[in-house]
Amino acid sequence: MINQKIEDALNRQINLEQSSAQLYLAMSAHCEAKSFRGFAQWLRLQAQEETTHALKLVTFVLDRGGRLDLRAIEAPPKEFGTITQLFEQVLEHERKITGTINALFECSRQEKDFASEITLQWYVTEQVEEEATAGQILDQLRAIGEKGGGIWYLDSKLGKRGAK
Ligand code: FEO
Repeated sequence: MINQKIEDALNRQINLEQSSAQLYLAMSAHCEAKSFRGFAQWLRLQAQEETTHALKLVTFVLDRGGRLDLRAIEAPPKEFGTITQLFEQVLEHERKITGTINALFECSRQEKDFASEITLQWYVTEQVEEEATAGQILDQLRAIGEKGGGIWYLDSKLGKRGAK
């Protein structure tokens, strides 16, 4: 069984992961519209990953005999500015998610819900990677700027994400 507090918190996190998927899909379309197909591909895969994050938590809630409480998914912004500004928003968003995961982890510890704590460990580790990756892309964008050919090289490199 799962207690109400943890169940609510997990349902909120499921919603946040789905909102993340929605956000990255909107960002992907924004890049596509500017012909940056590599950034678009990277963000589309990121959106898929976020759906996976949500589904893992859905499975966990149901396995624990909890109730799935799906909520409205926040609409993403319509504009993201330059590619550099867009990745600033990715990093900022991932930092926000890290905060919610950490709070959830702390809550499961306080409630002595060991199964939740162990499951959430995966998310704590994942957030380290999520922030590091977004931070690296942002550093590269800031270093090369958006005027020369460097950004097209980075676009092509990120477009290989997921390629066999
Ligand atoms: Fe599911 Fe990017 O955090």
